Amino acid sequence: MLSPIPPSASFSAPATGAPDSADLLAWYDIHRRTLPWRAPPGHRADPYHVFLSEIMLQQTTVKAVIPYFGAFLHRWPSVAHLAAAPLENVLSAWAGLGYYARARNLHKCAQAVVERHGGLFPADEASLLALPGIGPYTAAAISAIAFDLPSSPVDGNIERVITRLHAVEEALPKAKPTIRTLAAALTSHARPGDHAQAMMDLGATICTPKSPACALCPFAPPCQARAAGTMQRYPLKVKKAPKPERAAIAFLAMREDGAVLLRTRPKKGLLAHMTEVPATPWSAAEGSIPEAPEAFAPLPAQWRALPGMVRHVFTHFALEFTVWRAELPQSTIAPQDMRFVLPRDFDSEALPSLMRKVLAHGRAGAQLTDAPRRG
Ligand code: ADE
Repeated sequence: MLSPIPPSASFSAPATGAPDSADLLAWYDIHRRTLPWRAPPGHRADPYHVFLSEIMLQQTTVKAVIPYFGAFLHRWPSVAHLAAAPLENVLSAWAGLGYYARARNLHKCAQAVVERHGGLFPADEASLLALPGIGPYTAAAISAIAFDLPSSPVDGNIERVITRLHAVEEALPKAKPTIRTLAAALTSHARPGDHAQAMMDLGATICTPKSPACALCPFAPPCQARAAGTMQRYPLKVKKAPKPERAAIAFLAMREDGAVLLRTRPKKGLLAHMTEVPATPWSAAEGSIPEAPEAFAPLPAQWRALPGMVRHVFTHFALEFTVWRAELPQSTIAPQDMRFVLPRDFDSEALPSLMRKVLAHGRAGAQLTDAPRRG
């Protein structure tokens, strides 16, 4: 008697052979993406370009990074130029890319490359790892892409490729060492730089999270997930606890000429040294705003609450801002350690994405409602 074929496997061929980097490289030679930090075929990329792009690409898309990469190179054409730049300028050029610790580390690392290595990036993973802000992924990416050493960078995209290829049943993050071992075993020793970039391109364009294009994949024959029709199952992940919620009120004090009251955040902590709209403390209490928020207003005024909220998700918590707005006479003097800034000068401020959202919400909010009175 015939046994029923599981529906997911009905049109799939069984997995055959072991994955071979030569197949991946043959695909890459035809389909490689042209990216501004990438060297033409047969050439090595500038280590500074690789470093800059890899830091920018952590948690940010290629599309979003391209204009920032160009602007940084234009302004700071070498690692020595970047090292000599004031941190504030680097932070304001970074504004909009998010995760500002990366910008601070980028700057610190540039200074360390100049101080420790005379402005030349070291080639080996161990020396790269010793630099501030360079973790195992970035060290391996620079070593492979810029120096063609057989290092195996593993990011989220490559984790997906590897876990599908081998149907890794261990869940992340515990599976990381297994994945690293499998990725290293697959790495081409003939063309390690191209291999690393080919894995990145494969993960970004073919082995995508939702609907992988298996018919176009150079690793289709040996891929175990493809053979079983279970691509979406991988990588397995341990369920994360939901992020805690915080709430706060941002005070948008707007002068007659449109200038907005801003201040600089403390030198330490989250969004350190960046520009912000004055606000209440970010309450850790679930979704509640602090008691008596008026006490935190930067100056006495007719504060009105704007309808709607501004929500921003940080690494460890989500924050919801209500915006209170006040219109102030032109003669208003900024309180100590604060300044009125005209919209045309926002670009020279280190304004994080969250604060850009608050400003956009507050400046658009023409329809005013009374601020809730408390206590
Ligand atoms: N994602 C991370 N690094 C990358 C790179 N060098 N090229 C393309 N995508 C990437």
